[in-house]
Amino acid sequence: MASYLQIADDEKGHELDLFCIPRHYENDLDKVIIPHGLIMDRTERLARDIIQDMGGHHIVALCVLKGGYKFFADLLDYIKALNQNSDKSVPLTVDFIRVKSYCNDKSTNSVKVIGGDELSSLRGKNVLIVEDIVETGRTMQTLLSLLSECHPKMVKVVSLLVKRTPRSSGYRPDYIGFEVPDAFLVGYALDYNEYFRDLSHICILNDRAKEKYKV
Ligand code: IMP
Ligand code: MG
Repeated sequence: MASYLQIADDEKGHELDLFCIPRHYENDLDKVIIPHGLIMDRTERLARDIIQDMGGHHIVALCVLKGGYKFFADLLDYIKALNQNSDKSVPLTVDFIRVKSYCNDKSTNSVKVIGGDELSSLRGKNVLIVEDIVETGRTMQTLLSLLSECHPKMVKVVSLLVKRTPRSSGYRPDYIGFEVPDAFLVGYALDYNEYFRDLSHICILNDRAKEKYKV
């Protein structure tokens, strides 16, 4: 079982005033729940764990857009740092896939995969899927079954966040940054209808904002 940093249900978080929050979002957020620095520290350790397990072979890191782009970039920077500072190193190539399953704050039943190179190029490769958050697990299960048709040698999944929710299908990624309460989270590339990707910290969205940015 993957170990992770648990954010408890009764976690009070941090007052917004203690951090730099863009002015345009000041009234939309409840609390900072994971400050940017803590995300980075945990990501550094995930990079080490991943290299320990997957190292030795060429890794194709597959970024699940758009929400995964910050985590992907930072995780790969840490993997790169390990690669260039140790005797053992592995070639790392990247690919991107776009998946859309959300409308407002609800997961929809359809998971759409858009873009990316031909998945068939992953045949025989060690693939690391990099995702922002697993909630029901449906997105990842859909993606995994699509990928398995392309016969990669190995597939591992790293998700920065996993939500503790009764809606979960039971699916758990191989590597997990944080386990978080069942609230709608934004920031660090996680969005609400495309807003809040330009926020460094992971925060809880308030109900007023859910109305304000509703589509
Ligand atoms: P799942 O298919 O229910 O596991 O949902 C996974 C996808 O839904 C993630 O990749 C996110 O894009 C989105 N998502 C789930 N929960 C949140 C959240 O709290 N904030 C932002 N996006 C979320
Ligand atoms: Mg996502």
